[in-house]
Amino acid sequence: MEMNPIVEEALQPMPVTLFFFFIAPLLFLFLLSRLRPDPPGTGQASKAIRRSVPPADGVPPHGGGVSSPDVARQVLQVQDHLFSNRPATIAIRYLTYDRADMAFAHYGPFWRQIRKVCVIKLFSRKRAESWESVRDEVDSMIRTVASSTGSTVNLGELVFALTRNITYRAAFGSSSHEGQDDFIMILQEFSKLFGAFNIADFIPWLGWADPQGLHERLAKARSSLDGFIDSIIDDHMHKHKTRCHKDSDEDQEPTTDMVDDLLAFYSEEAKVTESDDLQSAIKLTRDNIKAIIMDVMFGGTETVASAIEWAMAELMKNPEDLKKVQQELSDVVGLHRRVEESDFEKLTYLKCALKETLRLHPPIPLLLHETADHVEVAGYSIPARSRVMINAWAIGRDPNSWSDPETFKPSRFMKENVPDFKGSHFEFIPFGSGRRSCPGMQLGLYSLEMAVAHLLHCFTWELPDGMKPSELDMDDVFGLTAPRAIRLMAVPTPRLLGLVY
Ligand code: HEM
Repeated sequence: MEMNPIVEEALQPMPVTLFFFFIAPLLFLFLLSRLRPDPPGTGQASKAIRRSVPPADGVPPHGGGVSSPDVARQVLQVQDHLFSNRPATIAIRYLTYDRADMAFAHYGPFWRQIRKVCVIKLFSRKRAESWESVRDEVDSMIRTVASSTGSTVNLGELVFALTRNITYRAAFGSSSHEGQDDFIMILQEFSKLFGAFNIADFIPWLGWADPQGLHERLAKARSSLDGFIDSIIDDHMHKHKTRCHKDSDEDQEPTTDMVDDLLAFYSEEAKVTESDDLQSAIKLTRDNIKAIIMDVMFGGTETVASAIEWAMAELMKNPEDLKKVQQELSDVVGLHRRVEESDFEKLTYLKCALKETLRLHPPIPLLLHETADHVEVAGYSIPARSRVMINAWAIGRDPNSWSDPETFKPSRFMKENVPDFKGSHFEFIPFGSGRRSCPGMQLGLYSLEMAVAHLLHCFTWELPDGMKPSELDMDDVFGLTAPRAIRLMAVPTPRLLGLVY
């Protein structure tokens, strides 16, 4: 059969670039980990996990990469139902309580109902508390910056703290940030374990060897999460019971967080049916609730922070565009007050700059999917359970779709008929497309627009130590997410008039 070049490129077993970006770093990490001593421990946890960790699937994974918009359309739209499973390593399966969450659940009735719960209850615009936590935390970040005017601020650290605070508060409702440091340590360990190279993922029968002591670390990480979230769930259940015993007219519309919303579906035994009535269609256990909260923490923290930091870096690297965005802010908002939500629709150039940032720096560069069954794409055969990576990063820089693709040019989005990121233009898919596309897009965009608009409206920013914009390092770290390799440092000066900080 004659090979279609696009398909040939898309379905090749493992592109060279993928080897350099993905496999080689993992191999390197593996070799590095062999040089480190094993963490101290009794080995008991390690034995426990050997019994409870789901075994490797028995076949080494096979897969391919997609880096053309046409094949992305086939995978994410035309044959979406066959490409909507998720691949998961042994560590991911263990840390998600064996896919008890939404992000790693395979496509099917459980995933469909849990996605409905998340879209309707957790990420919906109607859940005003999440949007309120964005505004409050952005305010608090602006106050922090205002107290450091004239000195160098680590903007990267600042925006990561911002998004952690937003998600922590939306999930647990605590504005005091009590216990947050412990939780951050748990998240960091999860993140390392998600990315750790495990020989057993590739050669399942070598799983018993565990040369890096992963079994013990996995068991420890999950039991720390259990300890942390179980007590939060207990507090919420207790609060709910006390509230039920109170006089009903004393109790007006209590504010809820995501744990409250998920507890409305709580049962000791999981249940899922295809019923249209969501409340009777799904029952969630504690494991489901913990795993879903971790989805929110991972899905909503690094993605948004990386987009804010890249937007600020690209604008500082391109002073002409920065000037245009700030001029627009002065014209639309004026210098006597802060930006409000109602201003956003008039902030056209700012929105274009944010789109351009997402084109060049999609926070999740590779969308990881798995085939549910044997599937044909344009005449080519892909076996069931193949891993398919859709390279959103390469697609956003494809010279066939974008003129001057490597250049930051927000004005390209001012033109008519330019691709949008809502999921129907496959040249630009920072939020994915189709069934597994990002359910938190609205909330993520709101945080991104709020944070960048406030940072640029409230302050003028200079690079530290007389650094020129052209000298700003723009390297990224290419992994599950693609943040800046070096944190962005900059010096703020107040821009607004009067006491508005
Ligand atoms: C700028 C911000 C964000 C970007 C660029 C982004 C991007 C993405 C992408 C590319 C995917 C995978 C799509 C695929 O596999 O085809 C995804 C999935 C997901 N995102 Fe986001 N995201 C953002 C913000 C958020 C926020 C704020 C949340 C939650 C609060 C969130 C929660 C999730 C979840 C749970 C999934 C898994 C969905 C599933 O597997 O069904 N994301 N996101």
